[in-house]
Amino acid sequence: MKKAKLVLIGTGFIAGIHTESLKRFVPQAEIVAVFSNSEANAEAFAKKHGIPRWGAGIDAAMEVECDIVDICIPNYLHKKAAVAALDAGRHVIIEKPLCVTLSEADAMLEAAKRNGKKLMYAEELCFAPKYERVRALVKEGAVGEVYMLKQSEKHSGPHSAWFYDINLAGGGVLMDMGCHAAAWFRWMTGGAKVKSVQAHLSTVLHKNITGAEDNAVMIIEFENGVIGVAEDSWARHGGMDDRIEVYGTQGLCYADLFMGNAVQTYSKNGYGYAMEKSDTTKGWTFTIFEEMFNQGYPHELQHFVDCVLKDRQPLVTGEDGKAALEILYAAYAAAGQGKKIEFPFSPDKSSKPVDGWIKG
Ligand SMILES: NC(=O)c1ccc[n+]([C@@H]2O[C@H](COP(=O)([O-])OP(=O)(O)OC[C@H]3O[C@@H](n4cnc5c(N)ncnc54)[C@H](O)[C@@H]3O)[C@@H](O)[C@H]2O)c1
Repeated sequence: MKKAKLVLIGTGFIAGIHTESLKRFVPQAEIVAVFSNSEANAEAFAKKHGIPRWGAGIDAAMEVECDIVDICIPNYLHKKAAVAALDAGRHVIIEKPLCVTLSEADAMLEAAKRNGKKLMYAEELCFAPKYERVRALVKEGAVGEVYMLKQSEKHSGPHSAWFYDINLAGGGVLMDMGCHAAAWFRWMTGGAKVKSVQAHLSTVLHKNITGAEDNAVMIIEFENGVIGVAEDSWARHGGMDDRIEVYGTQGLCYADLFMGNAVQTYSKNGYGYAMEKSDTTKGWTFTIFEEMFNQGYPHELQHFVDCVLKDRQPLVTGEDGKAALEILYAAYAAAGQGKKIEFPFSPDKSSKPVDGWIKG
């Protein structure tokens, strides 16, 4: 079997999910090396997952021969790593959000074009099996004509400090999780053009940790008449929640990836792990199973590896990541200015999305 050689950059939360997904579900991929911010971190990760080679830093990662570089590092490093990998002649899988600024996005897209390589945007909601079942139902006409889509992702706050630093992340929860909603609405509407964006942002639980928002509501009006409503929060206790609602003229669908997929458990003693961001396992809990599978990571990575091996166009690309970022810029500006932002919208491409809210 022809295999795609893959170099992983990052050894944190999402790198673990990519690695397990690739190892369990994508036999056509071979992780040949892993790189982290320190050699010790990379070595520990490599030994845990049976990866034969490891090292520190983005530049060193470019020295290993491979087909794909899989970028699983903080947002502010996405552009540097992606451009380096594309210039080194590799295809790239990039975690969301695409990067921090629109000028970085342009540099990444240009690098992909210049080198004739694929820039694949890892939006797993476009691959999550339950959400894909909903999309198939909609395509089949089960709910008639869709007039409203809702998507929300909520938990009580990220696990690493860099997420809370607006200079490293580009924003708060809207940047971190609103990017899923923006991408999924576009996925469901076949890339419909945005007409306007409104948003309300607030900081509820993390005032002492971040200058960014930890609770967000965003309303996107598409040119085809569909309304997308996103709720994103780092202020929601009780573990992870990711849900969608689709409203059509002839019906509707509700689906969620965590609580509705979980085992309902009552435990007086508590136990090892319930689900992502769950802070207790005592009493009644929602015990998730096949967590990464339900979220679509194996399907997403399988697809990207296939695209490389068979030279196919990915379903989700850097352009989609940029389009999601454009929506987020408009949402921050809408919240900052207290008004609806009409498209086309031309923010300062070198500013961060969150600047539109903070500067008003
Ligand atoms: N698709 C999703 O739902 C999802 C979920 C979580 C995270 N993410 C995205 O994945 C990316 C990483 O997030 P995370 O949760 O894994 O963060 P994390 O803090 O858990 O891990 C970050 C990793 O980056 C490494 N790193 C930092 N600087 C580096 C450098 N210069 N060279 C090499 N490695 C370096 C760190 O050592 C660490 O291993 C972010 O862009 C985040 O938004 C996506």
